[in-house]
Amino acid sequence: MQTRTCLSIILAAGDGTRMKSGVPKVLHPVAGAPMIAHVVKTTADAGAATISIVTGRGGDAVRDAVAPFDTQVVFHQQMQRLGTGHAVLAAREAIARGFDDVLIVFGDTPLVTAETLLKARAKLADGSAVTVMGFQTEDPTGYGRLIEENGRLVAIREEKDCDDDERKITFCNGGLMGISGQNALELLDAIGNDNAKGEYYLTDVVEIAHAKGLRVEALEVPYEELLGINNRAELAGAENIWQQRRRGELMHAGVSMQAPETVFLSHDTAIGADSTIEPHVWFGPGVKIGNSVRVRAYSHIEGATIADGAEVGPYARLRPGAELASGSKVGNFCEIKKASLGEGAKVNHLTYIGDASIGARANIGAGTITCNYDGYNKYQTSIGDGAFIGSNSAIVAPVNIGDRALVAAGSVITRDVPADALAFGRANEETVRKGKAAEINKRNAARKKEK
Ligand code: UD1
Ligand code: CA
Repeated sequence: MQTRTCLSIILAAGDGTRMKSGVPKVLHPVAGAPMIAHVVKTTADAGAATISIVTGRGGDAVRDAVAPFDTQVVFHQQMQRLGTGHAVLAAREAIARGFDDVLIVFGDTPLVTAETLLKARAKLADGSAVTVMGFQTEDPTGYGRLIEENGRLVAIREEKDCDDDERKITFCNGGLMGISGQNALELLDAIGNDNAKGEYYLTDVVEIAHAKGLRVEALEVPYEELLGINNRAELAGAENIWQQRRRGELMHAGVSMQAPETVFLSHDTAIGADSTIEPHVWFGPGVKIGNSVRVRAYSHIEGATIADGAEVGPYARLRPGAELASGSKVGNFCEIKKASLGEGAKVNHLTYIGDASIGARANIGAGTITCNYDGYNKYQTSIGDGAFIGSNSAIVAPVNIGDRALVAAGSVITRDVPADALAFGRANEETVRKGKAAEINKRNAARKKEK
């Protein structure tokens, strides 16, 4: 199998009008990545070393969006949208390079798995010229029907071209197929447009191959893998299926979730064994979590790296560039952005830490704010190992606070604090006036009585 070369062609020239969007359909996200990026990754996982994407209008946007996920992709433009068969031939130049297997997939079908595509490739390796991925459904409305004779697939009939008996068939075309590279161009070039829609149907390769005496097969695949996304309700449905799958994988890999249906993962969320994710946690892209980490309820985390044994939340917000070393803690109502916390450091309550590095075992008191922005530029704060920042302190960057320094509660710190120093930065010394409170309370009580 490994010795066979593979090209995947991803069709994405559709307008996607039912999305009612200014954004090309295939760029709408599932788990934080454009749906076509899922397809790119899946076909790469199935062994496609060359990936061709066929785009129509909005091709540049697709190119830009896919670039971060795979730079090896080749783009082809389908100038006129004349059908799926015509679309595949926009990648003629790639097909002509000669591959053993050609996989044809849709950019709007993000849930297909590499396992399924490998099964289709195995059939090609076995001597099949065309392998069609199909599914059984009680409601086949709108799909091409798989026409079999004596247990062999002989044709795919689009619904509009079906007679009454054919319309009753419940074995449907999922749209994706594998074609042996050796036969691909010959079969594709033979497709005509003599049908109800006047389009070049990719599905016609089945009848063409059968007539040539080549082996054609159907591979039955779970319906959900072949779900095509046409509108935002279906997009939400695909998101739901994707989330269930990924939660399942993570739990089987040793991650605990009490209410998995309330945990939302990104396409690249990585979580180590023995970690626990409490209910209602949201992960944006770029999160890496080590082993034995606890993420408490209602936390919102993106672009963060969390090392073994750290604890986050409840109600914590980690933004891109948050790096938590092992055993560190970020507690309730804290926001961390572009900042590192050393081993065992604690930021436990009501705090904003941005553009900062916090040393090992440092303790950041409740209500501490790193004032990192002057409205124009951002500045760095550095807090040393074992430093103690008293509650409600404002640390005005750029500023460095040394190892083991103490900052008194309520301070505004604008200048560097050396190691082992104590810093007070309060506007006034505290004044105490004996008996004054009693006097005020008495006056207020009297006023209330007058009313
Ligand atoms: C297609 C199949 C149908 C199958 C269904 C499954 C054909 C002729 N029909 O129908 O048998 O049951 O998928 O969902 O293949 N595209 C282009 N250029 C074109 C036309 C389409 O790039 O000129 C792309 C679309 O963006 C889409 C994919 O090809 O990603 C499928 O096209 P679509 O028009 O949705 O095909 P269906 O009518 O759904
Ligand atoms: Ca479709």
